[in-house]
Amino acid sequence: MDIAIWGAGSVGLGLATCLARSGERLRIIGRDPETIEHVEREGLTRSGIFGDRHVPPSDLVLDPDPTALATTPPEWILVCTKAFAAADVAAALAPIRPHLPDETGLVLCQNGWGNEAPFLPFWPREQLFHARVITGFHRRSPNRVEVTAHASPVALGSVFGVDPGSVPGLGALAKRISEGGIPTETRADMRAVLWEKMLYNCALNPVGALTGRRYGELTEDPTTRRIVDGVIREIFAVLGAAGIEVGWSDAGAYTRHFHDALIPPTARHESSMLQDLRAGRRTEIEALCGAVERLGRDVGVPTPIVSGLAALVRAAERPG
Ligand SMILES: NC(=O)c1ccc[n+]([C@@H]2O[C@H](COP(=O)([O-])OP(=O)(O)OC[C@H]3O[C@@H](n4cnc5c(N)ncnc54)[C@H](OP(=O)(O)O)[C@@H]3O)[C@@H](O)[C@H]2O)c1
Repeated sequence: MDIAIWGAGSVGLGLATCLARSGERLRIIGRDPETIEHVEREGLTRSGIFGDRHVPPSDLVLDPDPTALATTPPEWILVCTKAFAAADVAAALAPIRPHLPDETGLVLCQNGWGNEAPFLPFWPREQLFHARVITGFHRRSPNRVEVTAHASPVALGSVFGVDPGSVPGLGALAKRISEGGIPTETRADMRAVLWEKMLYNCALNPVGALTGRRYGELTEDPTTRRIVDGVIREIFAVLGAAGIEVGWSDAGAYTRHFHDALIPPTARHESSMLQDLRAGRRTEIEALCGAVERLGRDVGVPTPIVSGLAALVRAAERPG
């Protein structure tokens, strides 16, 4: 199976350790010279909860130039950049697309909702998929990734109603990642799958980032808990108006599940958005609360709490 991974970060390199096979050369499009140098010299190493795995340099090629995809087209391209880089990746991929076979599949592995928008003008919906990742990947050094958490299998599927059973290659891709060490499955209900992660991320990431508190602290304090619960209520109102179903009938049912089942095992976690703000990096607020805000506007549902949080994070991430 010929696969290309776009983005040599935590998720891209973590998935690369699953997908690389002896005798094949897995392609990674990555632009950091230090990472390229380390991978070319030593290969790639994974540690953590699914055990150790080493990929020798001969089984990988890490190249900053994506145009080689046009001369030897892959069957799958996995986009593993942050959500805010989707437009840049799409701009680089658009001129390559005419050189690829119709059946080449694109899998967007980012957090958030609506990351496919910049790809839709040139990529067929039948071949455009998403991955929901709730596995924690941490870069210990340029070519070492640790798997630090795994809440459920990586999910691959379509938000456009394409039945995964009708795309045998998607099942084969899931099987290959699983065989490489990280459990992965295909899902027919990908919109619900992505929104379930959106609910959790939008409820916790911005409030955690703005207050500097861990998830358990946010839900114990009545003031921040009211904000968290308010985000969940607003998202359910937007989803109801947009006709998007998730696995819970209403905000109350999800809120109970959130506090009873989701928070206890992650009470000590800090929001990745907090780490981004601390490090002066751009956050994924637009793909999270920004996406809820835009969908709310489209369906005529006000989102004052979500929009307020988005505005504060945008202000906090301004350089300086
Ligand atoms: N890490 C996790 O545990 C985890 C878990 C679940 C979901 N996710 C989601 O997965 C996505 C990726 O996260 P991550 O943690 O892997 O981020 P990351 O470590 O920052 O990696 C992103 C990589 O993409 C590269 N990149 C950005 N724009 C590019 C471009 N135009 N061309 C080529 N490479 C480009 C970046 O390179 P530069 O460094 O040069 O910018 C970086 O190496 C995010 O949406 C995140 O929310 C992450």
